[in-house]
Amino acid sequence: MPETVWWKTGTVYQVYPRSFQDSGDDGVGDLAGITARLDYLAWLGVDAIWISPFYPSPMADFGYDVADYCGVDPLFGTLDDFDRLVAEAHRRRLKVILDFVPNHSSVLHPWFRESRADRENPKRDWYVWRDPGPDGGPPNNWLSNFGGPAWTRDEAGGQYYYHAFLPEQPDLNWRNPAVRAAMHDALRFWLERGVDGFRVDVIWHLIKDEGFRDNPENPGFAPHQPEINRFEQVYSCDRPEVLDIIAGMRAVLRDYGERVLIGEIYLPIERLVSYYGTNLDGADLPFNFQLIQTPWRADAVAALVEEYEAALPEGGWPNWVLGNHDQPRIAARVGPAQARIAAMLLLTLRGTPTLYYGDELGLGPVEIPPERTRDPWGRNEPGHGRDPERTPMQWDAGPQAGFSAGEPWLPLTPDWVCRNVEAMSDDPASILTLYRRLLGLRRDHGALSVGGYRTVALAPEHAEQVFAYERAHDGAVLRVVLNFGGTGQSLPLEAGWAGHVLLSTHPGRTGARERGQLRLAPDEGVVLRLDGPA
Ligand code: GLC
Repeated sequence: MPETVWWKTGTVYQVYPRSFQDSGDDGVGDLAGITARLDYLAWLGVDAIWISPFYPSPMADFGYDVADYCGVDPLFGTLDDFDRLVAEAHRRRLKVILDFVPNHSSVLHPWFRESRADRENPKRDWYVWRDPGPDGGPPNNWLSNFGGPAWTRDEAGGQYYYHAFLPEQPDLNWRNPAVRAAMHDALRFWLERGVDGFRVDVIWHLIKDEGFRDNPENPGFAPHQPEINRFEQVYSCDRPEVLDIIAGMRAVLRDYGERVLIGEIYLPIERLVSYYGTNLDGADLPFNFQLIQTPWRADAVAALVEEYEAALPEGGWPNWVLGNHDQPRIAARVGPAQARIAAMLLLTLRGTPTLYYGDELGLGPVEIPPERTRDPWGRNEPGHGRDPERTPMQWDAGPQAGFSAGEPWLPLTPDWVCRNVEAMSDDPASILTLYRRLLGLRRDHGALSVGGYRTVALAPEHAEQVFAYERAHDGAVLRVVLNFGGTGQSLPLEAGWAGHVLLSTHPGRTGARERGQLRLAPDEGVVLRLDGPA
């Protein structure tokens, strides 16, 4: 049965607004900048943009600390700029997805100011307040995801408030119906303005253990890991009641037609899939970060895809992600040659792909000198900072790579003079061209956008280095064969079969006809149309 809903057939592109395009000269991107670059996104061939937060914020965590859920921070523009962005995106058939951050607000949000004012305030219970533990210290052993305790004592009331992230990001109490109602109103505010969906920040954190039990120690903890890993996050997040909360949000979206709810969830597959909800009343797309977390080896990735496909609930739509503003860039992790394999994988697996801005240019490692570290996590726990994956988009070889008329808030990649949209868009060998061709192929072939998935079994001598699978729809079969290694491989096709190379990561190969054997160069991937017995 063909699936035609846009968030199933389409491709999402994440824009980190600080870093996409500055329309002024303050070195920080803004909404008008995004609008000015919509033609590029339409040319590239994506279907939706997800914009990281642009709400009023003191920017302790670069906008993930929201001081007003229904506004635009002056740094990024105005509500008029936002309305223009949505209208211009829709004119180009691009959907707009917002980043909704309901787990915590900024300390400067009026709700929290009231909540901390005194213990009798009606907003007191909107946040998570607890008396000190028996020893007068924090109420339990929960840690902040950015290092240090997750509890901060408020001198005025003598109680502690909980913050899963910075002390500037107090967690809201989603057990309180008034909080739920206020957040639903914020969703409606943006839905009324025409947004097509939300990516919900740390959705698996929304409900905490009712008894605030201590988290158990993590026996696998190693000192190089972030401090949060000292304990298993058993009671501070992923509580069963969270599914009702998500169903409540999903119901708000349902009143507005085909809108999408994407949930940010870092959990193993068997827990992740529960976020589709009972009878699919939960997140439409619980973000699947497994490609980021699995070792980059053909056999490991093949096993992961099989496991994920098998774990999906009936009717649950899959999705895949290679990177985001919290994770090292794919090209920095696997190198430039394998970044092309990663692109082919992301855009040919079954399920909605989310691309991270700049990955289509293969943005790689960037050295951030300690004095230019901006990420609060990187400041608290050096080595874990997220600045390298947040550097400005590189548009051309002009000053500041066309990103800003001023000094960018983070440095460019060292190779920006040749690694930019202008230099790469007409180069048949560039990774940008490969991304664009893959997006075109996905549009042209139902087998890729809605077809079924099947792993192709390979002889043991190939399986360690090559991952092969088929996507089939309406009688058409496409075979994807990816060489994860640095040596050439020669694989037998079915006896007497021929195939036509629709696209190769190595441009010269596209269009070739293969008979009997498929030869792959080192680091080469191909999408092959199988023509059956020749
Ligand atoms: C999410 C965001 C991350 C942010 C954190 C706290 O993980 O993606 O950037 O720091 O939530 O809001």
